[in-house]
Parts: sequence; C-alpha cells; structure tokens
Amino acid sequence: GRVLSVASECVPLVKTGGLADVVGALPQALAPLGWEMRVLLPGYRALLARARDWREVFAEEGLFGGRGRVLAGEVGGVEVLLLDAPHLYDREGGIYNGPGGDWWDNPQRFAALSWIAARIAREGLGDGWKPDVLHAHDWQAALAPAYLAYHGSGGVGSVLTIHNIAFQGWAPSSLLRELRLPPDQFHPGALEYYGGLSTLKAGLVTADRITTVSPTYAAELSRPEFGMGLQGVIQARASVVSGILNGVDTVVWDPETEVSPFTIKDMGGKAGARAALCAEFGLDVPGPLAIVVSRLTDQKGIDLIPAVLPDFIAAGGGLVVLGSGAPELESAMRDLAERYPGRVGLRIGYDEALSHRMFAGGDAVLVPSRFEPCGLTQMYGLRYGCLPVVAAVGGLADTVIHANPAAVSAGVATGVTFHPTDATAFAQALRQLVALHGDRKLWAKVQKNAMKQDVSWGASAAEYASLYEGLMA
Ligand code: ADP
Ligand code: GLC
Repeated sequence: GRVLSVASECVPLVKTGGLADVVGALPQALAPLGWEMRVLLPGYRALLARARDWREVFAEEGLFGGRGRVLAGEVGGVEVLLLDAPHLYDREGGIYNGPGGDWWDNPQRFAALSWIAARIAREGLGDGWKPDVLHAHDWQAALAPAYLAYHGSGGVGSVLTIHNIAFQGWAPSSLLRELRLPPDQFHPGALEYYGGLSTLKAGLVTADRITTVSPTYAAELSRPEFGMGLQGVIQARASVVSGILNGVDTVVWDPETEVSPFTIKDMGGKAGARAALCAEFGLDVPGPLAIVVSRLTDQKGIDLIPAVLPDFIAAGGGLVVLGSGAPELESAMRDLAERYPGRVGLRIGYDEALSHRMFAGGDAVLVPSRFEPCGLTQMYGLRYGCLPVVAAVGGLADTVIHANPAAVSAGVATGVTFHPTDATAFAQALRQLVALHGDRKLWAKVQKNAMKQDVSWGASAAEYASLYEGLMA
C-alpha cells in the first residue's frame, strides 16, 4: 500500500524535536513491510535550496494568498514532497516563529500544508502516485483529516498521530471560513474549542484512527492532568485511539560505531568514552556520571535539577548537560556549571555529535519529565548502557524497567524510575542510582539488560502496518 505522511519536520532535513526523528524513520521502517510512504513537508527556505532540480508534481494557484506547488525528490532514501509556497515558508527565522514569537500566519501556513495533503490524497500526484492512507502528525498536519472529512475523502483513510498534546494549533474562530472549514461544524462536538479553533481538535474529531507514541500516554491522555483540555475529545473517540511506541534508529545509535566502540560483550570501550567525555569538560567524577540531552523546557522537568544536584554531587556524582531553550533554565544550568567546576559540564546549544559522545561516555541519562509522550533519549541511553533515570510517565514508563527488588531478582531491571515528578522523588532516584553504581556486579547486569532491550522500529512498524491495513479493508 501507499501512505502519504504529512508533517512539519523530518530528519535529516529539518528538526526541532523527536517528531522529526519519527517522521524520518517511519518510511524506512515500513518499506520492508511493503508500504511505500512519501513525506509531505513545508518548503522552508533552507529546504528549497536542496530541491532546485526536483520535479513539480502538483500545484494550486490560490493557496492561502499565493501560488503553491509540490516538488518531489529523494533525500537519504526517503521520498520527499516539498510544498513550495514562498509567501508562507520562504522566510528568515525559525520554522514556527520569527523574532517576535510564533509567526502570525501559522494557522494559514499549516492549513495550506494540510489542504494540499488532503488534495493529494483525494486526487493523486501528477506522476500518478496516489496514497491509500493519509497519516498526519501533530497540530501542524491535523487539518488534513478534517479536510478529507469535510471536503470529500475519495475513499482514503486517515490516521492522526499525537506526538505532544501540549501544542494544539489554536486559532481565532474568525478564521473559520478563511481556513476552509464549514461554519455549521462550529460547535463543541466538532470544531469549536474554548470559543476558538484548535487544528489538533479538528483532526481528533475527524480522523479515522488516532494514535499516540506510547501506550501509557494513550491512557494518560483521557485524564485532565495530561489531556490539557482535550481529554473529553480523547474519551469520546476512545474506540479508535491507540498507543504505538516509537523506535530509534539503531544504525545511527550504535555504540559499536562510536569513537571508542563497545558492545554488550566487550564493554572496554565505554571506559575510554567516559574518560574522553570527562576530559572534554574538565571533569573528575568518582561516582556516576549523569547526562541530560534535552530541550530546556517546563515539560522536561529541568527546573528540578538545581534542587537535587547538591546531594548527588556530594555523593560523588557528576553531570553533563546539553540543551537549549527557556532563558531562565539556561541560566540555572550556567549557575550549576559555575558552582561545581570539575563536576558539572555544560553546553548550551544543539550538537548531535556531542550527544553521541555523551551517551557513549555517560553512566546515566536523566529524564525527569512532567509528561513525556514517548521520549527518545532514554532509549539511546538503553542502547549505550547509559542507564535511564526517568519519571514514570508516558513512554518513559513504557520503556524503562525500574530496578525494584522484584525486577532485580528476576534479572530484568534496566534503570530507575520515579513518581511523582518532584524534587523529593527525583532525589531518591538519584540516591538509588548512586547505590546501584556502587554495586559493580549489579550495575554491570543492569547495563547488560538495558543494552539487550529491543528499541528498534521492528515491532512498532508492524503495528502501523496493520493499522493501515485495517483502513484499507
Ligand atoms: P522532544 O521531542 O520532546 O524534544 P524526544 O526525546 O522525543 O523529545 O526527542 C528529542 C530529540 O532531540 C532526540 O533525538 C535528542 O537526542 C535530540 N536533542 C534534544 N536536544 C538536543 C541538543 N541540545 N543537541 C542534540 N540533540 C538534541
Ligand atoms: C514529542 C514528544 C516526545 C516524543 C516525540 C516523538 O516531541 O515530546 O516525547 O518522543 O514527540 O514522537
């Protein structure tokens, strides 16, 4: 079968978070199962440069204030469709925001992406390619299933995947007609959302199937603490909601291909990687060396680190942080690095190569999220024997087995989990980490368990495939 995947990010072209990793991985994970997936993306300025000799396969003259055309090409084995609409995407700045915050016309920018996706699904491309299923990701693509529902689906089934329900694509109700949505659907059972519009809600009420990126997050979403206003909508559609765990790219994330390589059978190289990481940041850490690779935002619980760090350092621990985000969190991390030279290393910014050196050299990766739809870094940690210390929420709860006595005696523990997400529970988890690290035999066993865990796309790709099949039947 054929699937049109629609999203605002995709590795290796454009990324602000894990969404891009997942959108970029799915086509390759599904190909062996007989599914041909093409990925439709906005033609941001930086992407257009790569598409100069791509072929035009679709066009619309009046696309929210200008001409739009779809260019087809291939990037790293993935068939990519770029929506070239300069009036919407060819600009200086971020993909979601400019100097003054969110782009003022984000509703139109992503409605255009979704509109073209729905048209391609219905009509097919100029080269004859026509999808059987449309798969939309997050609020940026969530109007695509709505357009299929309201303007005709042509028999194409739709899937909407929620990667993060915190971002809901809010727009004022005055945009209803401009966004090509039917005014008679402006009621609480359909498009209306707290007096305005939410593109995510529009997708949730119209998609044939709804998925999210872990089974636990799927369950959490129907509760107010996690549903963030959309829990009622999720409840109403419970019969079509499911959680499919993300995988990670096990070729890119492979300890055997790092500078100081190691494997589950020969862990020797990990010590070298640790020493190199310490040297890079001028650290000398007798206890566990923890790492954080993260967007610095409220979601990720980064604000809890200053509260728990002094005791962890006193117990022999150390920390390397790589991330960027909220200015107050960046400056809190700077304070820690200044206060604990030799124990805390910091790099503000985005640096993939450094993140690899950190997972290779680190003993533990900290993910104290308040909510986490799936999370990828705890899975990189598992692969690299860099034991995850995580809040027991969402995909973190689904991927890490807490080293409680039962799991330890059954020989299945892979890390430390804690609940709730607060400084008391986090501090306790770090005390457990220190104790675990002090028991060399047990530590080596947990590391092995972690590295043995299957974090590939295999099982999850098969779940998507059967979801698509169900829509074609
Ligand atoms: P989210 O999408 O909520 O940010 P995920 O864990 O799903 O969380 O995905 C984050 C992705 O971005 C991972 O691939 C992670 O390694 C990467 N990442 C986050 N911050 C940085 C950074 N500062 N440098 C390099 N990679 C980063
Ligand atoms: C979102 C979530 C993250 C998830 C990623 C990919 O960014 O915050 O938990 O791993 O999407 O699905």
